[in-house]
Amino acid sequence: MGKKVLVIGSGGREHAIVKALGRSPRVDKIYCAPGNAGIADDAECVDIKVEDVEALVNFAQRQHLDMVVVGPEAALAAGVADAMRSAGIKVFGPSKSATRIESSKEFAKKIMEKYGVPTASYRSFENFDEALAYVKSRPLPAVIKYDGLAAGKGVVIAATYPEAEEALKEMLLDESFGKGKVVIEDFLKGPEFSFMCMVNAGKVYPLEMAQDHKRAFDGDKGPNTGGMGAYSPVPFITPEVREKALNDIMQKTADAMVEEGVPFTGVLYGGLILTDEGPKVIEFNARFGDPETEVVLPRLESDFYSFVEAVVDGKDYIPEWSEDAVLGIVLASKGYPGKYEKGAIIKGLDKIGGEIYHMGTSKDGHDFRIAGGRVLMVTARGADLVEANMNARREIALIDCPSLFHRTDIGKAVLN
Ligand code: AMP
Ligand code: GLY
Repeated sequence: MGKKVLVIGSGGREHAIVKALGRSPRVDKIYCAPGNAGIADDAECVDIKVEDVEALVNFAQRQHLDMVVVGPEAALAAGVADAMRSAGIKVFGPSKSATRIESSKEFAKKIMEKYGVPTASYRSFENFDEALAYVKSRPLPAVIKYDGLAAGKGVVIAATYPEAEEALKEMLLDESFGKGKVVIEDFLKGPEFSFMCMVNAGKVYPLEMAQDHKRAFDGDKGPNTGGMGAYSPVPFITPEVREKALNDIMQKTADAMVEEGVPFTGVLYGGLILTDEGPKVIEFNARFGDPETEVVLPRLESDFYSFVEAVVDGKDYIPEWSEDAVLGIVLASKGYPGKYEKGAIIKGLDKIGGEIYHMGTSKDGHDFRIAGGRVLMVTARGADLVEANMNARREIALIDCPSLFHRTDIGKAVLN
């Protein structure tokens, strides 16, 4: 019998997961909750919010689903994976307690320190004066992180002490993100890359690497965003660096979480940086990255459903990957990540030959419209990144919507 799957989430990442499942000959039916206007072309969207644990479990039971794949951290933090497991439903996603590897910077740092996973040294503070005194005793730039989910806005890299003071004031005195702690860590230098591994307790199944582009504008200028473009593979990661990242970071962390009584099942996402001393951890996420997933999953030649199933069952699985490169460019609504307008019509989508992932669109009649900050991701393949980039740029030029902007330098650092 064909498999029935539910994907939870509503962004480009979930669109990529839906499309990857759609390529599986074993999958008959894909639901997405809540999905979006673009995902609706590839899955049946069901109107349930990602944190509505009870409704999601009820739906899964009613439909006799074979598998639930959880996209966003909000669903994980709400305990969706725990509730599915308790109800006897197969689910790919970590428990609420294991999700703390992403939601609590201090939890992640403590594990890394205890088990010797390479990362920047740090201290955490609740008190403003103590935090400020510590920052002033350290070299600049200072890296100040709010200890909790802050929608990508909780990290400040302060180049001056007054800037650092301002950030500490916002986080600890004004409590802009809520009452909490800050983690202050040393600044690491080097190129960043994303290493996602599917994990079941101590079993780690590495995916191909990708690189994200977090800043809003060309030249890595402007505010941090959810991610403005990505590519895979990452040519500056040698096999030796990969082995080191896999063994000394990803495997070690998975083992540590078992040891600590919070075994992890799902995607452990290493946001890593290649320093002169080797790869180190900037952050962990407890889920697939967005937009990295949109450039990594299309390179998977094996059956994605079978892969997920093997991981959930703790069985061995060696995936096959295409040698092709994939590069994707995000189209965002002008103003993002600040205030932006919704509603503008997006023309030209029907002319695109590569894959388009919908991140924030709505539809009325035949027209897609802007409905989110990050709106679409246009991806293209090529024999190498240069070709993938040329193809992606040719495609993106076909999209006609003056309310959208995008970066023109995705992958630039590795394209020559
Ligand atoms: P995070 O939310 O922890 O991923 O931080 C957002 C961004 O801030 C990262 O992608 C890095 O570019 C930067 N960043 C965070 N921590 C450090 C660090 N210790 N050294 C240098 N850059 C950092
Ligand atoms: N692209 C970074 C993230 O998914 O957190």
